[in-house]
Amino acid sequence: MTSSVPVLTIDGPSGAGKGTVSQRLAEKLKWHYLDSGALYRVLVVAADRADLGAEHESQLSRLAASMQVEFRPNLGDLVQVVLNGEDVSGLIRTEACGNKASELAALPPVRAGLLDLQHKMRQLPGLVADGRDMGTVVFPDAVTKIFLTASPEIRAQRRHKQLMEKGLDVNLPRLISEIRERDRRDAGRAVSPLRPAEDAFELDSSCLDIDAVVDQIMQRLREVCVLES
Ligand code: DC
Repeated sequence: MTSSVPVLTIDGPSGAGKGTVSQRLAEKLKWHYLDSGALYRVLVVAADRADLGAEHESQLSRLAASMQVEFRPNLGDLVQVVLNGEDVSGLIRTEACGNKASELAALPPVRAGLLDLQHKMRQLPGLVADGRDMGTVVFPDAVTKIFLTASPEIRAQRRHKQLMEKGLDVNLPRLISEIRERDRRDAGRAVSPLRPAEDAFELDSSCLDIDAVVDQIMQRLREVCVLES
């Protein structure tokens, strides 16, 4: 029974720190980690290779359901994402791939195609699931639901810093407007829009560092779960 496997969901807009926070929590708890955004990004790569565009909804849905995706822990860094045996981590972490993923994610058959893959990742001893609809749609029975936010400006500044560290020169005002546009699309779509679950705890990370966010979430989780660590 997968429903006996505890799930901690971390939803929120892009750049709020969900990835780093979720990965830290999964390491601390020794739970599995689902980066659901990576699934939508991987689908962009797979669709590109199959020459499928957003207009091919049913083929995209089948493609999504047939992908073999593996997340390999990568201490201190984002998880390694493997599609059908190939490491596609570098390919999926671009701004262009994120924007395209947001477009494909607005298609209901695509979301349905990825549902089973996400449910299968619910394995003992527990799962930390990061995304937009983890607490509202995919794991509505999660033991703890977090909605992590930060202002668009702060999120763009964080992303800008990461890209500069990678040697990529990007324009900050453009990044802010892309983040706003992605928020608008993710929150405005008809299916699984980005919004906090009714029973989610909302946490604004604008003025908090990663450790403080992780501590607050651990504290909430301890209130409902007996944890080993
Ligand atoms: O978290 P991310 O930036 O890697 O996600 C990329 C896009 O995928 C995001 O803009 C919206 C979409 N997404 C989604 O619709 N539902 C999820 N659970 C995760 C991501």
